[in-house]
Amino acid sequence: MTNRLSVQLDAFRYPDGTVALSDIRLEIGRGEFTGILGSNGSGKTTLLKVMDGLIKEYAGRVLLDGEEVRKLHPRDIYRKMGLVFQNPDDQLFAHTVFEDAAFGPRNMGLDEPEVAARVERALASVEMAEYAGKGIHNLSYGQKKRVCIAGLLAMGHEILLLDEPTAGLDPMGEYRMMEFLTRLNRDNGVTIVMATHSVDLVPLFLHRLHILSKGRIVRGGVPEEVFTAPAELESVKLRLPHIAELIWRLKHEEKLPFQRLPLTIGEARRELVEMMEREAGR
Ligand SMILES: Nc1ncnc2c1ncn2[C@@H]1O[C@H](COP(=O)(O)OP(=O)(O)O)[C@@H](O)[C@H]1O
Ligand SMILES: [Mg+2]
Repeated sequence: MTNRLSVQLDAFRYPDGTVALSDIRLEIGRGEFTGILGSNGSGKTTLLKVMDGLIKEYAGRVLLDGEEVRKLHPRDIYRKMGLVFQNPDDQLFAHTVFEDAAFGPRNMGLDEPEVAARVERALASVEMAEYAGKGIHNLSYGQKKRVCIAGLLAMGHEILLLDEPTAGLDPMGEYRMMEFLTRLNRDNGVTIVMATHSVDLVPLFLHRLHILSKGRIVRGGVPEEVFTAPAELESVKLRLPHIAELIWRLKHEEKLPFQRLPLTIGEARRELVEMMEREAGR
């Protein structure tokens, strides 16, 4: 079975000469929840735009279900895949929540009852149903982000590309957004690729991640394979999740006998209890 997205990009440079991406080999399988993790300026937004066909002037090729994205009609891209920009104000433009979410499906030529049904479903799934008639400019930042996602869901996307969906949200908002995306991925089978620099959230939610640094993928795999030592992450201007950093230091500086490097509080708690039991049993 062909992967949903296959990126085989040799190089992309912006017109001013900035080489923003080089040597990217990335395979995104059906139903995966993948993170592109990188510090500011590492090339995350550029890479998402390449995947979505908004940037075309690169050397290499990007395949969507086996077809070259660059050669597809925009309509055939948007039938399957949509990109949610980092800043919702770059995406939203209608006056009301309903009108905004209805724009995409109307543009697809659907009739009005079908548009209304899709918008209702999409708003309900982002918990914004009761805001349908509300003015966009009165929404909070997090609500705007959810309306952006609803607009894409209403078009029936099977693949969502999200640029820093948790940036600018408060801690609870970050968590809720990740839980929402997890449900969308798990229950609705939506394939998700999200760009982020949030190392603490990633191991809780993502299946796979790829670290982008200076336009190159420098590491990739499941979170346990990627988060192994502080120095490797510092070299790409990232860090370990806080809880992993603590346990790493206890193991390497205090020489406490931890066996694995836990990435979440739940894993750390189990590791600690097991270690204490082992020590007590000596
Ligand atoms: N329109 C542009 N013209 C020239 N350089 C750009 C443009 N947009 C981004 N860049 C440069 O490309 C690199 C990657 O940027 P970007 O993809 O926005 O990174 P990220 O999203 O990870 O912060 C950076 O060096 C940035 O300065
Ligand atoms: Mg960006």
